[in-house]
Amino acid sequence: MCAKPVKKQPQQVETTGHQWDGIEEYNNPMPRWWVWTFYATIVWGVAYSVAYPAWPLLREATPGLLGASTRADVAAEIAAVDAANAAVKAQLVAADLNAIGADPGLATFAENAGAAIFRTNCATCHGSGAAGFEGKGYPNLLDDDWLWGGTMEDIHLTITHGIRNTTDPDARYSEMPRFGADELLDEDQIGQVVEHVLAISGQEHDAALAAAGATVFAENCASCHMDDGSGDRSLGAPKLSDAIWLYGGSRAAITETVVNARFGVMPDWNERLTEDEIRAVSFYVHGRGGGE
Ligand code: HEC
Ligand code: HEC
Repeated sequence: MCAKPVKKQPQQVETTGHQWDGIEEYNNPMPRWWVWTFYATIVWGVAYSVAYPAWPLLREATPGLLGASTRADVAAEIAAVDAANAAVKAQLVAADLNAIGADPGLATFAENAGAAIFRTNCATCHGSGAAGFEGKGYPNLLDDDWLWGGTMEDIHLTITHGIRNTTDPDARYSEMPRFGADELLDEDQIGQVVEHVLAISGQEHDAALAAAGATVFAENCASCHMDDGSGDRSLGAPKLSDAIWLYGGSRAAITETVVNARFGVMPDWNERLTEDEIRAVSFYVHGRGGGE
């Protein structure tokens, strides 16, 4: 069975009385609840903009009667966290550098704080995982191949004062001569010593040139890099007899280093970080695997 269509009765609905070409306008007002909700939102909106910061002015927004400020909230939260950490920070500053690891609470704090400080300040140059950028002069901090030393004291000193910067007179400093650019060696001698470096680092080389290069090396390079190329940490002179390279171990890269020398600069951090932060990040670096 199908229902009979009900014929609409327009007359039963009140009309506004407007009429165009016989088309009438019904008067169907909004439901009460809708209208009241609408009014309520207006009241709410006015009240809110009086109570809370709302209208942009030239410099800042109207402050609102309740004095709410998310910026002040954040500042208060930071202050609260700082206050909560003040004791452990003081402990970190007072601790013997090598004793930090022995205190589990201190070690956990230093490790976590150090990781955050590293991500913010060091990752740009040393990589987010501290693996450095091979061949670009930014050393890997994960391995046990250290330019300046891998003890807590060494690392702490490197980070505090930096390396070859112009901002800290106590920065670590050394300078490899520019053997080519300053004509300390001629082209033949440079070719020979480069073959010698290739030889002691276990790479493919020309044996005759390398043999001649050994003499050049002993006379010009061993004072910093040692006779066997094992390097000198007091000068930041890298070990040349391994496969780890700061600037690259190819024939071309080594030649470039010998001709023009390099001058790796690391900023000092004693102006930018507090002592507890330097200690935390030193502890973090020391704990990455290469620490001594
Ligand atoms: C602007 C780039 C830059 C930034 C930022 C930077 N470093 Fe370095 N860092 C270097 C360079 C370049 C060297 C190597 C210098 C050299 O040739 O002796 C270095 C060397 C080091 C060394 C010595 C490694 C060794 O083998 O002895 C340590 C440790 C170190 N950085 C830690 C840090 C920490 C921790 C931070 C963050 C607080 C940091 N660095 C930020 C560029 C940077
Ligand atoms: C006065 C000390 C000194 C002398 C002499 C010296 N070097 Fe260096 N050498 C350094 C230092 C310091 C570095 C690191 C430079 C930097 O980080 O900017 C370096 C870096 C190098 C590197 C780059 C290593 C890498 O891992 O990328 C090579 C190669 C090198 N030297 C070869 C030589 C050779 C060959 C001679 C002799 C002809 C020589 N050096 C003489 C101090 C010296």
